[in-house]
This record gives sequence, structure tokens and C-alpha cells, in this order.
Amino acid sequence: MVLEAIRYSPGSLQILDQLRLPHESVYVPVTSSEDAFHAIKTMTVRGAPAIAIVAALALAVEIFGTDFASPEQARLFITEKLHYLVTSRPTAVNLSDAARKLEILVTETDGSAEDVKQAYLKAAEKMLVDDVDDNKNIGDNGLTWAEKTFGPEPFSVLTICNTGSLATAGYGTALGIIRSIHSAGKLIHAYALETRPYNQGSRLTAYELVHDHIPSTLITDSMASVLLKTHPEIKLIVVGADRVAKNGDTANKIGTYQLSIVARHHGVKFVVAAPTTSIDLRTQSGDDIVIEQRRPEELVTVRGPVVQDGKVDVSKVETINIAAPGINVWNPSFDVAPADLIDAIVTEKGVAVKDSNGSFNLEQFF
Ligand code: MRU
Repeated sequence: MVLEAIRYSPGSLQILDQLRLPHESVYVPVTSSEDAFHAIKTMTVRGAPAIAIVAALALAVEIFGTDFASPEQARLFITEKLHYLVTSRPTAVNLSDAARKLEILVTETDGSAEDVKQAYLKAAEKMLVDDVDDNKNIGDNGLTWAEKTFGPEPFSVLTICNTGSLATAGYGTALGIIRSIHSAGKLIHAYALETRPYNQGSRLTAYELVHDHIPSTLITDSMASVLLKTHPEIKLIVVGADRVAKNGDTANKIGTYQLSIVARHHGVKFVVAAPTTSIDLRTQSGDDIVIEQRRPEELVTVRGPVVQDGKVDVSKVETINIAAPGINVWNPSFDVAPADLIDAIVTEKGVAVKDSNGSFNLEQFF
């Protein structure tokens, strides 16, 4: 069975509820931009490419049965909804990039209201298809880079958060590269960080790794340094991206920054895997990236099914508190790995490495 986070057919969109994984696989309908906004905000769907695609397709479903009175009315309706959707989460550039491209498209489409609507539907649907192709190319490019860098011997890999089929239209970015390394027989073992506070690693990446029978182990975030020290066969840390700035600084799940530091200390390669839609040439450096702050509850509570007599009872889901009541909480959802500590940025169009001045040229992909 192929893992499918997003199920779409014209007029219908369903998403796999990522808050209920790994214990339950439940698809929820998304019929409007309001539904999509809520699903993105609550992280029912998450991951930079997935939220952009769900936002675009939700609006496609919303307008599918609508007859607009004029092309102007169609353009205005679509544009206003896109502006609203962009406000659901601020850090991942894929969402605003998709909205900007779709807005330009409807603004520039001449003809009837139906022509404007059809142009939007076609472009939104193409995003879903293109993302899977892009991820497979990221996987191929990452594998080729790794084979060139590490030679013929197999090696182990460490990753953070979830960057797989659940975070994209399919296959994944960083997890896609791990899939490609595994398929090529080059993977000894994959290590997944739990990814506190929201546990995308233990809930989602672990789920995908087990699903695909990839040899893998879960660790807590604080175990990364000692894991690298004691496991020299780990040659690569590969992470996803929510926004890659022009200079290569990369915002990704909180904990990514410290991984980039420990990678350098242990001589392990640190690689970012991202579609070019995650590269934001208008953001000069990581200092200009808005980092989303999440609710304190996501840090001080844990939600999941009750374990009774060693068995998981999915019919009884509870939220428990794991911190002293009254303590202050700081909960940034992302941090920035500096370009200086990044060895390569793998995209669907190729791999960026630093030039003789130590700089990435990301403009080559545009
Ligand atoms: O808060 P999340 O779960 O949306 O954060 C996701 C990440 O940080 C991913 O690494 C990133 O979006 C890339 S997903 C291909």
C-alpha cells in the first residue's frame, strides 16, 4: 500500500489526519479554504509542500461547482481566498510561493469566468502531480551526490521531523533521499529523531520507515551527538526545509540548527533536501525568515491512545500534562541552519554545493 496524505479528484479533497497517525488512518474531507486553513493551522496536514498543495486544492474544490458572474468576480474571489490561506502558517515559503503563482495566473488569464476558473483548477491539480515527480528527482540527485561523496560502501543516515510521503504529495524530500539510498542497497540504517515538541519523527517518520521496511531506529533529540560519536557509519544528516534563503540559510523544524552544529563537530555531512519551491530568493538570509511560534500546550501536553496491560487502546485517546503547571514556555516551531554548516542543497533540478568563496549559488535553479 502506498502512503497517500492527499487524495484528490476534481471536486473532492481528502487528507489523512496526521494528528491521529500512527494509531489510526482516517481521511477527513476538505471542502473549502476555511477547512484547509483550519487543517493547516492545527497540523492535521503539515510539511511545507503538503500545506501548499492542500491550500491550492481546497480552493479548487471550493470553486469547482461555482458559476462566477464575471471573470473579474472569479479573479477577486480566488485572490482573496489565496491571501487568506497564506496566513495559516508563516514560515514555509511553499504556501506563499504557490499562492503568488496562482494569483499571477488568474490575473493574467483572459477570457470568460469559466476560463479563469479552469485555468486555476488545472494549475492547482498540476502542483500535486509535479510534487511527486520533483521528489523522485530529489531522491535520485541525493543518491548520486552521496555515491560520489561517500564511495561504494553503504552508510547510515540521520534525519529530523517528517519529510516523507506525509509531508508532500508522495515519496518525500529528505526521507525520499533515504528511500532512494535504501532502494540502491546503500543504506545500513536510518535514525529518526523524535522531534519534540510535536513528535513528527516518532509519530510520522517512524510510521513511514516501518511501513516501508527500512531498517531504522528512533532516538530522542538529545541523543544525536552521542549517536554520531558512537556510530561512525553515520555519514549523512539529511533534513528538509521550510524556507531556503538566497544565501542558503535554511529554516526547518526546531532542532535542525543544533544538528548542523554537531554534524560539523563529528565530520558528518549535513545536507538539505528541498524542491526549488522551498527556495526564496527574495529572502536574503535566515535573519529575515519569520519563525512561527506555536501554542505552549503543544510542549506541555502529549496526546495519544491509552496503553492498558501493554496494549494500545485506540478507542481511548487522552491528553496528559507533562510539565509543572505555571512554568513559562517558549515554543518556536522552526530554527535556521546557517549556510556555513550546510554541505549541499539537493533540489529536483540539481545539487548546489559551495563555490570557491564558500557561497551557494541558488539562482542557478531559476
Ligand atoms: O511543523 P511541520 O511539521 O510542518 O514542520 C515540517 C518540517 O519542518 C519539514 O522538515 C519541512 O516542512 C519539509 S517537509 C518536506
